[in-house]
Amino acid sequence: MTLIRKAVFPVAGLGSRFLPATKAQPKEMLPIVDKPLIQYAVEEAVAAGVTELVFITGRNKRAIEDHFDKAYELEAELEAAGKQALLDVVRGVIPKNVSCIYIRQPAPLGLGHAVLCARPIIGDEPFAVLLADDFMDTAPGQKPVLAQMAEVYAYERSSILAVQDVPREHTRQYGIVSATPYRPGLELVQDIVEKPQPEVAPSTLAVVGRYVLSGSIFDYLARLGKGAGGEIQLTDGIAALMKQERVLAYRYQGQRYDCGSKLGYLQATAAIGLKHPETAEGFRACLASLLGEGRAS
Ligand code: UTP
Repeated sequence: MTLIRKAVFPVAGLGSRFLPATKAQPKEMLPIVDKPLIQYAVEEAVAAGVTELVFITGRNKRAIEDHFDKAYELEAELEAAGKQALLDVVRGVIPKNVSCIYIRQPAPLGLGHAVLCARPIIGDEPFAVLLADDFMDTAPGQKPVLAQMAEVYAYERSSILAVQDVPREHTRQYGIVSATPYRPGLELVQDIVEKPQPEVAPSTLAVVGRYVLSGSIFDYLARLGKGAGGEIQLTDGIAALMKQERVLAYRYQGQRYDCGSKLGYLQATAAIGLKHPETAEGFRACLASLLGEGRAS
């Protein structure tokens, strides 16, 4: 039985680190080889048993709505051309039992505010939050990251944050937790702080873009003022929640690429390009030749 039925995808950020690519489309529509980041995240949610997808959109919302909508003209043209394989790709973007809901975040006031916008749809049930620009790759035989967390939720029934260790000089890019050992792979969160400077960070355990949250987070988010960077921070809502309910930190299995940054995006593209059946061989040769040329010059 699946316990996490709903997932929130905040896609209303400015994506300023990726301008001009994000001038007219959200960064979550950037493709890794042939699939936009948001579709990878949606597939991860669906694999964890989620059936209601709640997108928190901003000024450039159309591309995402169109991507998950039926594409009548495109499908008719592919059908007429007898391109069945491509037709299957287009039709398979979203399974039939899964529904999409779009909520507009009136202004990019912060991730905490974006999540709060989902309250009318989520109500008070537990839900997932996926930041599609944190691209999670797993090895064959490994469960996708949100499915790992849903499994933990099934026996712990408490909020869960995906975490990983980061170099101390990077703490200012993340929410950082201090936590005590709980079970293998799981820690009990004692404190959480948004983007601390390395010298004051309570640890180097960083929260990444996968969360399972209790519905009561909304009460805390609704009361928040501006936090770090002048934004309403999800981290601050979790800090308040943690005082009333158990929050766990989960060391996920898999490889994360920060696709909100140019270098992380290129690393993800290279990792998937080297695995994709249509590109693996040619791309490997291409990289070898480029690197070979680099050494020669
Ligand atoms: P980021 O911190 O990566 O911000 O947001 P950003 O604006 O998207 O990108 P930069 O820093 O300007 O390049 C983390 C996630 O939260 C969403 C973003 O879309 C991203 O998935 N977000 C952020 C919102 O939906 N609304 C907000 O107000 C802020």
